[in-house]
Amino acid sequence: MNTPSAPLPGGTWTLGDSSVTRFGYGAMQLAGPWVMGPPADRDGALAVLREAVSLGITHIDTSYAYGPRITNELIREALHPYPEPLFIATKVGATRDAQGGWPTARRPEDLRKQVHENLASLGVETLDLVNMRMGDAQGPQPGSITEAFETLVDLQQEGLIRHLGVSNVTGEQVAEARSIAPIVCVQNMYNLAHRHDDDLVDHLAADGIAYVPFFPLGGFTPLQSEALSQVAHRLEATPMSVALAWLMQRSPNILLIPGTSSTAHLRENIAGASLSLSDEDVAELDSIAH
Ligand SMILES: NC(=O)c1ccc[n+]([C@@H]2O[C@H](COP(=O)([O-])OP(=O)(O)OC[C@H]3O[C@@H](n4cnc5c(N)ncnc54)[C@H](OP(=O)(O)O)[C@@H]3O)[C@@H](O)[C@H]2O)c1
Repeated sequence: MNTPSAPLPGGTWTLGDSSVTRFGYGAMQLAGPWVMGPPADRDGALAVLREAVSLGITHIDTSYAYGPRITNELIREALHPYPEPLFIATKVGATRDAQGGWPTARRPEDLRKQVHENLASLGVETLDLVNMRMGDAQGPQPGSITEAFETLVDLQQEGLIRHLGVSNVTGEQVAEARSIAPIVCVQNMYNLAHRHDDDLVDHLAADGIAYVPFFPLGGFTPLQSEALSQVAHRLEATPMSVALAWLMQRSPNILLIPGTSSTAHLRENIAGASLSLSDEDVAELDSIAH
């Protein structure tokens, strides 16, 4: 691994027994359109992954369901053998259908299969972190996480997983999982405009558990708001930069995994996340969700 020329914004966070950079990388959108099939620019996708690591990023988020298989294979091709500090988080709980849908698959045999697919496609014997993804495309849904989570605990005890997390979950499901086994993170949708997890972020911070917001830039629909544009204009920055800086400042347990298929955007996002927002900026940005 090269020595990065400048430290990444936000420093590091300890996930279980590993120190990771708070500025990470989300690999989902490296696959083809709507996260199906191969990317149009395969070399470009490999270049983004290599650039992320050479800039010092040590936390990459992925899933076998991305592509499916494609994103994991790109990560393996670009980065295997993985440099020691690199921490790759994956998730299970859904597969893909021929129409590009994300049917849930959470029976014990489904989860075992998905863990083994992740191991094989990433080319590792143990996965650093597996998030148990619940809910559906509409978001978290009520219901017990116990049977699914206990299957991952079994796989952890078999030595196939180092750390456990949960994703797309309600606060009740977080508590239910934690009553079964320790988790190191919660990965839910959260950004400037979607702040339903505000209390959960603070609660997890107090307990030393990471909160990893997905769709930090709005996902498939870029964040847009008058207040965001005004603050960005005042700071001579892009709205995306301000959105990332806001997350970075929101709480020390927030780990960023913005996605991009462009090395230029990757660099822009790192610079953006290091912006310093004043109390006035933050108050104005807080008004977006209220
Ligand atoms: N647990 C879950 O259920 C779940 C669900 C969704 C996602 N995730 C994870 O969360 C990660 C982040 O989510 P995401 O990638 O879908 O959404 P995102 O990070 O909110 O946004 C990514 C989009 O923003 C664009 N973008 C990024 N930087 C930009 C810049 N500087 N200027 C202009 N456009 C920019 C990207 O396009 P370009 O490629 O053109 O830069 C891409 O279309 C995913 O990679 C995945 O690992 C998890």
